[in-house]
Amino acid sequence: MPDQTTSHGGTASPVRLALDAPAKINLFLHVTGRRPDGYHLLESLVAFTEYGDTLVAEASDTLDFDIEGPFAAGLRAERQDNLVIRAARVLRAASGHRRGVHFHLDKRLPVASGIGGGSSDAAAALRLLAELWGEDPATEDFQEFALTLGADVPVCLAARPAMMTGIGDVVTPVAPLADCGVVLVNGGSAVPTPAVFKSRTGAFSPTMGWDGAESFDALVDLLEPRRNDLTNAAIGVSPVIADVLRALSNSDGCSLARLSGSGGTCFGLYPDRNVAVRAAELLSRQHPDWWVVATGFLSATPELRSA
Ligand code: C5P
Repeated sequence: MPDQTTSHGGTASPVRLALDAPAKINLFLHVTGRRPDGYHLLESLVAFTEYGDTLVAEASDTLDFDIEGPFAAGLRAERQDNLVIRAARVLRAASGHRRGVHFHLDKRLPVASGIGGGSSDAAAALRLLAELWGEDPATEDFQEFALTLGADVPVCLAARPAMMTGIGDVVTPVAPLADCGVVLVNGGSAVPTPAVFKSRTGAFSPTMGWDGAESFDALVDLLEPRRNDLTNAAIGVSPVIADVLRALSNSDGCSLARLSGSGGTCFGLYPDRNVAVRAAELLSRQHPDWWVVATGFLSATPELRSA
């Protein structure tokens, strides 16, 4: 196969680009209604963490995909149906060319766990493909492709704090959030999103809006009355979530603990990173079978780099 060069030209080495696919957390998630097609209307403040997956893309004649990392095993069997490879198929069909790509995913985020791992991987795949295949990611069509891959994919393209409304497709950037410590905890079982939405009961929440918070304390004060409306439904599907939320809430220095997305990953917010690291160490010791990570909010959209 002849060497391929970047879209900027100039080098003779094969093109290999890497992009981080950060975890997404829903700082609050209100279910405000339901569309006739069954999709739920949401109002959610979303932030991204420094911790996440990494996707590498290499120009190739075929579409191919391999996975490594602590959560690779659960994805390998269905890798031809993974959102990353679907992103490539959708974009290739829309552009009408036959170019290929070899993806390599380092899967560090638990699968089907409410922190947008699959959506963030898909968004990273779209951004990598745009560079390799010379597409413009700023077009409306491109945002539409993102939405066809999943309701959370559009917000993951920018990977910066945003309000999500509609079914998740209306993304409005918000001011950066105060730096703080974040602990992510997953009790172990995969939680299928459709099952959680299906078992949600009760009235819809009113829209509350978001004016921004200038400090960590202000952020916590504003989040306190806001909820994740999927929490009870998610606990019904995966009861360990209640234990995780309790353990996070009781951990030293935790200012707020909530479920992210449809679960099962929960997060705790801490006034600084050292407090979060200590809390995570203790939670790991107390619950060696749980996945526990201390991290912080991502401060800027991840950039493509040579790999
Ligand atoms: O589009 P995505 O793959 O994120 O959604 C998975 C499932 O979650 C949908 O098929 C639907 O059952 C449910 N969902 C929903 N309302 C949303 C997002 C997802 O009901 N806004």
